[in-house]
Amino acid sequence: MRFKSHYVADFSDRNPQPITDKLFSERWSPRAFKNTDIPSVALEAILDAARWSPSCFNEQPWQFITASNTPGGRFEEFLSLLVDANQHWAKTASVLGFIVSKRHFDHNQQENSTATFDCGAAWMAMTLQARLFGLFTHSMAGMHYDEAYSSLKVDASTHQIICAFALGVMDSADSLPEPLQRKEKPSPRKPLTQIWQHY
Ligand SMILES: Cc1cc2nc3c(=O)[nH]c(=O)nc-3n(C[C@H](O)[C@H](O)[C@H](O)COP(=O)(O)O)c2cc1C
Repeated sequence: MRFKSHYVADFSDRNPQPITDKLFSERWSPRAFKNTDIPSVALEAILDAARWSPSCFNEQPWQFITASNTPGGRFEEFLSLLVDANQHWAKTASVLGFIVSKRHFDHNQQENSTATFDCGAAWMAMTLQARLFGLFTHSMAGMHYDEAYSSLKVDASTHQIICAFALGVMDSADSLPEPLQRKEKPSPRKPLTQIWQHY
């Protein structure tokens, strides 16, 4: 399965090590999306990739709630849960979703302090499977949380809404409102020496 984007991003601000796979360094979070139908078989594979992520005690604390950008579904409702700044660009994504984390372990009901870490791993797995299909994701913490808990029927005492995400086919930066066009470029990273101590 391969979705084609005609837009080529400028990776000049990224300087990966020569043998690091481009799957990692060329993953980025565009805002320009072109609403394109993503067949359910592809969407299922993307979410399935998340399922194989590691988690503390194999708790698998992640839950995903998604809506396709098709008439009659919940896409518009999900879009309205985002802050305006995110709504402006996320409206053309193919899928909007929310990642929800379960706060307690099943086996002893104790607080699961690594649940959000595990959800992050699951998020990255689904993102990379999406990239392997030629698709992109963009996470969003910018949402109206009270409305999101209510609309998604998430019980805040047992679960935490971590973030929303957009999934879709990247479009040209020209398709964005002017202020966002200038930001539409893969961002740089701290050097490896700043984030890694090896002895
Ligand atoms: C948990 C999380 C929340 C984020 N929230 C937002 C958001 O609300 N709006 C937005 O435009 N980008 C958001 N981002 C995207 C980040 O700004 C982006 O991932 C970061 O700048 C690195 O860029 P890259 O993903 O293109 O490599 C979020 C990313 C993460 C992981």
